[in-house]
Amino acid sequence: MDKVQPGRQEKPRTSHGGPADVLRFLRSFVTAPMRTGAQWPSGKALSRAMAAPVDLAVPGPIVELGPGTGVVTEALLARGVPPERLTMIEFSPQFAKLLSQRYPNVRLVQGDAYALAEHVRKLGLAPPAAVVSSLPLLTQPPAKRLELLRTALRIMNPEGVFVQFTYFRDSPIPVEGTGIDTSVSPRIWMNIWPALVYSYRRGPARKLRAHERDAAD
Ligand SMILES: C[S@@+](CC[C@H](N)C(=O)[O-])C[C@H]1O[C@@H](n2cnc3c(N)ncnc32)[C@H](O)[C@@H]1O
Repeated sequence: MDKVQPGRQEKPRTSHGGPADVLRFLRSFVTAPMRTGAQWPSGKALSRAMAAPVDLAVPGPIVELGPGTGVVTEALLARGVPPERLTMIEFSPQFAKLLSQRYPNVRLVQGDAYALAEHVRKLGLAPPAAVVSSLPLLTQPPAKRLELLRTALRIMNPEGVFVQFTYFRDSPIPVEGTGIDTSVSPRIWMNIWPALVYSYRRGPARKLRAHERDAAD
């Protein structure tokens, strides 16, 4: 069941990013490997690279999918995203509990990130400026991954960006022939495992159509 947790004003029981987080991650990986998707949290360099494509000048909220212990959340806040502009969607109740303690001012939904449009609608959010995903997409069928991206691009601000990391070279979302504008970072070597960050945006034709639609309104 999806739960929106406003977060409690409690002090975190452990420091952020320490060995306790690695243990939490390992425990989550052992109990739910397909959902956790990694043995340990992303490092600082990868987290910064995930936050980098977010353009703070584009209006709208920032939605983070699969925040885990909050390393990318931390990088988004450090980049200057105000906590009230951020919404986290995390499936694991254990990670959700930790996040609610660690980021009491950030909106948290404990639920399924693949129901993105429904969450955005239920929360009454404006079209997001960015969706930043660390979901283990490769554990899902290609059609489901593409559907998530198409949904995000449809509901986002026309200038919005969908960000996703992968340990592999190829795009984790099958975008060939879709017209979706795709770019990729250099490989981030300071991470276990070294990773790439993909950014997806509406293609120029779709952007134009969105502007034309706005003009017609
Ligand atoms: C690879 S970990 C990334 C965690 C963190 N962002 C990082 O980079 O260290 C994937 C995260 O996505 C969460 N997750 C997996 N499937 C999900 C889903 N359908 N909805 C929401 N969260 C999901 C997992 O619980 C986990 O926290």
